[in-house]
Amino acid sequence: MTARLIDGKAVAASVHDRVHSAVASRLARGLRAPALATILVGHDPASEVYVRNKRLACEKVGIRSVPVHFEETLTQAELMATIDRLNADDSVDGILVQMPLPPQIDPVAVTERIRPDKDVDGFHPYNIGRLAQRHPVLRPCTPYGVIELLKSVGEPFKKRTAVVVGASNHVGRPMMLELMLAGATATCCHRFTADVAFEVSRADILVVAVGKPGMVKGEWIKPGATVIDVGINRLDSGKLCGDCDFDSVRQRAAFITPVPGGVGPMTVAMLMQNTLEAAILRESES
Ligand code: GUN
Repeated sequence: MTARLIDGKAVAASVHDRVHSAVASRLARGLRAPALATILVGHDPASEVYVRNKRLACEKVGIRSVPVHFEETLTQAELMATIDRLNADDSVDGILVQMPLPPQIDPVAVTERIRPDKDVDGFHPYNIGRLAQRHPVLRPCTPYGVIELLKSVGEPFKKRTAVVVGASNHVGRPMMLELMLAGATATCCHRFTADVAFEVSRADILVVAVGKPGMVKGEWIKPGATVIDVGINRLDSGKLCGDCDFDSVRQRAAFITPVPGGVGPMTVAMLMQNTLEAAILRESES
């Protein structure tokens, strides 16, 4: 078997189209465009690329981009004051602080400072809690995008075994909540899991998000599984690769996401959707 590729760029483009149409219809009704503030601290090359892609996506779908850039020496108090100002600004619907942050800044305090109804990353404990309690409001973008990719290939979720490799706050844990919400029976593997290969071999749906190039081997895969590779690793050669050994995993899976061009574009697309949803949410509250 050679797995079919799940085209993240195409699925992301359809989300962008949906958001673009919704924004256009808002403008036609005399409402303003949604606005997204993206805060970048320092000059980490990967973060600069991610933030640039987010700002470009805003332009494409008609969302107003509010770029904020600070030097690496920024203090926690200065960042908190900026978040407070954006929290209070009625013309801003979404606030995103790009991670990682320099060591003098506490990322937990930053995440909790953003108003939950402007938290378009979906990282605030309120939004994670709503997802855990099956009443999601703003959902973490990457896991939300993975669910969209799975739906795009007709994944039924119910009565299916899902395995998530990686238990990070931003991907693995909310991914578990999303998969359970969708009806799958989900297991999470992490650094203390006794036998990751065994857990993976049971998966009808496999989501890998660990940041280790080629960690998941083809022989671990249940024949016919759907494999979502969230990892984006840059090799010494400069080539990007995922957390799965792509060629061998592809021989056993039915569907697989490529890296690049799989999950990456979906994270940005779901951010656009969350920003639109945040604008609608605040209007309904006021
Ligand atoms: N750093 C890497 N991915 C993300 C993301 O999705 N959101 C934020 N805020 N920072 C990130």
